[in-house]
Amino acid sequence: MTTSDWAEVDRYLVDTLVGDGDSETLRANAAGGLPAIDVSPPQGKFLYLIAKTARARRVLEFGTLGGYSTTWLARAVGKGGQVVSFEYEPKHAEVARANLDRAGVGDRVEIRVGAALDSLPILAEENPEPFDLVFIDADKVNNSNYVRWALRLTRPGSIIIVDNVVRQGGIADAATTDANSRASRDVIELLAAEPRLDATVLQTVGGKGWDGFAYAVVLGEDD
Ligand SMILES: C[S@@+](CC[C@H](N)C(=O)[O-])C[C@H]1O[C@@H](n2cnc3c(N)ncnc32)[C@H](O)[C@@H]1O
Repeated sequence: MTTSDWAEVDRYLVDTLVGDGDSETLRANAAGGLPAIDVSPPQGKFLYLIAKTARARRVLEFGTLGGYSTTWLARAVGKGGQVVSFEYEPKHAEVARANLDRAGVGDRVEIRVGAALDSLPILAEENPEPFDLVFIDADKVNNSNYVRWALRLTRPGSIIIVDNVVRQGGIADAATTDANSRASRDVIELLAAEPRLDATVLQTVGGKGWDGFAYAVVLGEDD
């Protein structure tokens, strides 16, 4: 099996079951010169379903890009919900803002432009209501920092998802010198060691190749 076989399966699933989410966003991202590193439509729908299952009303996202995953999440939180999304690149945030407004969910999404590690203390200072779901999909080398921050901004039962942790199998190589694979190993070891979290990692294939995501739940005293 190759990436093109997996992509063909993704196309079949989009046509029959998943829908494309918002292909207009993907077109606008390409027109704006953004890299095509958004989640795939089946992955976006999966995020949407997780948020729906958890009845999430407040979502925190790391890495907006052009707002493709953000749109799925914003639809899931519904009219009264809120998504706060961190994005480093002003150009990405500008394209995302236009996409989210056009998709009709702009009023429930706040994009905070800048390095997430700079934006996080400001957000925490505002003492926000706990987030029900955190989706981490920005600079991979900071994944462990983002999980530590997510723990401060969530509650027992909240979900933390870290995307792209399998890195085409790179995480299985203990001697890897690839910074992103090292960061994946670090975050997986953090998830394993952190008593306030219980987690697994699922490998995925599809149009975006071979990767996978970590799924963690925040534990309470009774868990
Ligand atoms: C993989 S893309 C996000 C894709 C998006 N979640 C989606 O699926 O549509 C990663 C994004 O994180 C942003 N980013 C990189 N470093 C960052 C940082 N330190 N703080 C916030 N965002 C960052 C990049 O500019 C890029 O837009």
